[in-house]
Amino acid sequence: TKITAQENSVSLEGFTHYMEKEIYEQPSAVSNTIQALSGFAPEAYGFNAPDFFKKLNRILIIACGTSYYSGLVAKYWIEKIAKVHCNVEIASEYRYRESVPDPQCLVVAISQSGETADTLAALQHAKNQGMEMSLAICNVATSSLVKETEAHFITKAGTEIGVASTKAFTTQLIALYGLAVCIADIKNRLEQSKDYILDRLSEIPSLLKEVLSHRGAIEEWAQDFSNALNSIYLGRGQLYPVALEGALKLKEISYIHAEGYPSGELKHGPLALVDKMLPVLVIAPSNSLIEKVKSNIQEVKARKGRLYVLTNDESILESSTKNFHVIQLPKTHEDLESLVYTVPLQLLAYITATIKGTDVDKPRNLAKSVTVE
Ligand code: G6P
Repeated sequence: TKITAQENSVSLEGFTHYMEKEIYEQPSAVSNTIQALSGFAPEAYGFNAPDFFKKLNRILIIACGTSYYSGLVAKYWIEKIAKVHCNVEIASEYRYRESVPDPQCLVVAISQSGETADTLAALQHAKNQGMEMSLAICNVATSSLVKETEAHFITKAGTEIGVASTKAFTTQLIALYGLAVCIADIKNRLEQSKDYILDRLSEIPSLLKEVLSHRGAIEEWAQDFSNALNSIYLGRGQLYPVALEGALKLKEISYIHAEGYPSGELKHGPLALVDKMLPVLVIAPSNSLIEKVKSNIQEVKARKGRLYVLTNDESILESSTKNFHVIQLPKTHEDLESLVYTVPLQLLAYITATIKGTDVDKPRNLAKSVTVE
């Protein structure tokens, strides 16, 4: 039951699946979304936004699924760059929870479709509690979410058809990184010039193209993953939500159980699962946490785990062996690593699913947009 191009007005353009096409569209989708930031002008988030950004003293992010994971990455940016408290909540939990409302909190709802029932209800719940400053990060300009928020930023992913979200996620990350920079600027907390930050961000589309060129190596990993029943994905800092998102992609479309974990938690449970059968994927860019991640790698190695490491660290690259697989990724600024390291995980899930022969664009039991509770 492959989705055919006829079913949608969107052509497959020679790709086998919409998901594959959407993964490859990311350099341009991300580039278009960077353009839409208008050099970090607060007005890019709507005419109410400059006022909200001045007034806010904390941020509450509400979302579901992949959009929730982009919110988790955003927390690292908002607290580090804008120095504003940020909570990220799963919409279906927040809507029924007794929390402490704060009228000076900006509620940020993230959604590809803008029609997810839980996200809309969580927004309503926040409003009912007197939180009136709301911002949508959404991919559909005509959606209910955009209508129900005071301010909005429309990601420029274009139509996303594959049920498993890809380009919507990376464009959300751009919108959220832009949000952190904007708020920092308005509150006079930016440590570098906006031009400098924009130049650095503008390198991302070409880095994503470079990552996509590693498909051959990822195909080899996918052969191994397609024989696994379980897997673990590890990351630290903003790469922890990327591990969660990578694991979610694998679960959704290949039906292989995958768990994302913060690397530092390995010793508090998941290490018990490690044996010579279990693939352990480690996101290990050479950043301020690399020494910590290297000890996590050693912990897995000592228990004969099968390691799959994404890195740009020289010493890790040199230690590649039969049970220690390494793919080299391009270097970028530490703040932007989540963008670069997401794409190989999408490709890994996609190729693994095609090897298993699952219905990639319409995985069993899942819907693109969950408009009922
Ligand atoms: C469904 C989709 C996911 C998506 C989630 C949230 O579960 O299958 O891919 O991340 O809904 O959707 P939204 O449109 O609100 O981002």
